[in-house]
Amino acid sequence: MNWKYYDFDIVDSTNNLATNYPPGTVITAKIQTAGRGRYGRQWISREGNLFLSLVLKDEETQTPFLPFAAAVSVAETLVNCGYNVKIKWPNDILFNQGKAAGILLERTEKGTVIIGIGINLSSAPQENVLYQTSALETTLTPKELTVAICDYITYYTKLLKAEGFEKIRLKWLEYAYGIGEKIHVRLPNETITGIFEELTPQGAISLKQGNGTVRFITVGDIFFEKDKNDDKNTR
Ligand code: BTN
Repeated sequence: MNWKYYDFDIVDSTNNLATNYPPGTVITAKIQTAGRGRYGRQWISREGNLFLSLVLKDEETQTPFLPFAAAVSVAETLVNCGYNVKIKWPNDILFNQGKAAGILLERTEKGTVIIGIGINLSSAPQENVLYQTSALETTLTPKELTVAICDYITYYTKLLKAEGFEKIRLKWLEYAYGIGEKIHVRLPNETITGIFEELTPQGAISLKQGNGTVRFITVGDIFFEKDKNDDKNTR
């Protein structure tokens, strides 16, 4: 894909702005005044961190698996830059045990899908976060990272279209944090606990509970037993 890049100083949300642009567009901003995360949460967006949104054509994206392709793209970019990052299901990027990047996919009425990515390059906002945060403290420029991420997204979306989810699922598992370990999944009305067994070919995580029952989870927030001593991760 020949991405067309537009760089802004201040926007409300790069994802909002991206709804007005055609597939192949990449929007970045130095500051977002109303950056948002998954489930309508706030994404605090101070200058120095990276905020970008890519516009793709919806019918070409295999949308259910696109969040995993996006997570693998960001993880692979950062690993290639020397950062030992992991993916927290479904598409958070962890560095130094904290969340250093988040990804928000949104479909628009214009038949596009927006992949919004926020990366803590220089600071790790701590306000109202559900999971502890970290920053890469990198010397890489936002532009270098943006271009590298877009190249990976081109590669992995093509792979998804041509061959389906399997190779991306395996890559995702390579980077996954906490496989085989005890996790807690917070759902709207309950929290369930079990062993995080795998990512299924349908994109769910399988959770083996104490009584041997396996539950398949497609939405929710996960927390790791091993991170339990950190206040932020037990709420
Ligand atoms: C999350 O982890 O909850 C997802 C965070 C996504 C934040 C990015 S920053 C660029 C784009 N614009 C937004 O308003 N949100 C995404």
